[in-house]
Amino acid sequence: MVSKLLLSQLRTLPKPTHHRLINPNFIFPLKTPSPIHSRPYSDSPQPQPPSPPPPTNGNIPNKTKNIYSSLNKSELAKFSAISDTWWDAEGPFKPLHAMNPTRLAFIRSTLCRHFGKDPYYAKPFEGLKFVDVGCGGGILSEPLARMGATVTGIDAVEKNIKIARLHADLDPVTSPIEYLCTTAEKLVEEQRKFDAVLALEVIEHVADPAEFCKSLSALTVPSGATVISTINRSMRAYATAIVVAEYLLHWLPKGTHQWSSFLTPEELALILQRASISVQEMAGFVYDPLTEKWYISDDLSVNFIAYSTITNE
Ligand SMILES: C[S@@+](CC[C@H](N)C(=O)[O-])C[C@H]1O[C@@H](n2cnc3c(N)ncnc32)[C@H](O)[C@@H]1O
Repeated sequence: MVSKLLLSQLRTLPKPTHHRLINPNFIFPLKTPSPIHSRPYSDSPQPQPPSPPPPTNGNIPNKTKNIYSSLNKSELAKFSAISDTWWDAEGPFKPLHAMNPTRLAFIRSTLCRHFGKDPYYAKPFEGLKFVDVGCGGGILSEPLARMGATVTGIDAVEKNIKIARLHADLDPVTSPIEYLCTTAEKLVEEQRKFDAVLALEVIEHVADPAEFCKSLSALTVPSGATVISTINRSMRAYATAIVVAEYLLHWLPKGTHQWSSFLTPEELALILQRASISVQEMAGFVYDPLTEKWYISDDLSVNFIAYSTITNE
């Protein structure tokens, strides 16, 4: 009975698709990249069509003078559909809630070191301006504000921003958070700058990771830091972050993650380098099913996080 159920679940699984750049550890044979199965994250010149192309793979055409838009319509629709569940610790965002203390420990440790702050102080980030790009319902923005940071949370989904605003207003410590329904590239156009730019679990959902990283770079003051977390494009990540989390444990709605949109740590470091951002430290997050807790680890094979600084050119 159980095995029949498992078999039927597994039959509905998406097959991992090929990616443009091949990880040296990647076991599938190299194939001609297909525009459906891969997305650009290299800033190497791409063949240009003779006239402006119609919107493809869900990208929203940008109406501003900057041609680039990080928006991927189909990815945003997924988050819009579950926006009212952001603060349900047992709902679709359960993994983010569970991972939050671990990723905050990494952020506290690396950013306190970076800004010369005492990590044992209750509000170590006092006097610093942080932007949480793709903040969702604010589950990272709020603890950052509690640690003293002046936080701006931005998200492309209006409903997420509404939920984040309502929740932050419940507590005077979090109510000063500035929440905006906007994108990193629009903040760049407005010439906003921050001491730290954080984008956790967002880069795998944007239209063009390389351009997205350039926006993150432009938002960071020269002495500032960036923190990015994402999922590795490894077979282990396919098995755990997609098969187990989405299809077997139903932690996340099926289809939340596209395996081909994941980046390996090497690829992330490369596109950051091209955006004048230099990775200083990477760590993995590992889930222990016995304790149901996440731990910081040097195993980057599934979830990983990178703390980086701006390169002086
Ligand atoms: C997996 S959630 C992560 C939320 C939050 N960063 C966290 O880790 O708790 C991804 C979020 O990124 C937002 N998002 C996706 N693409 C975006 C873009 N181009 N600009 C701004 N937000 C975006 C989605 O709406 C969603 O809220």
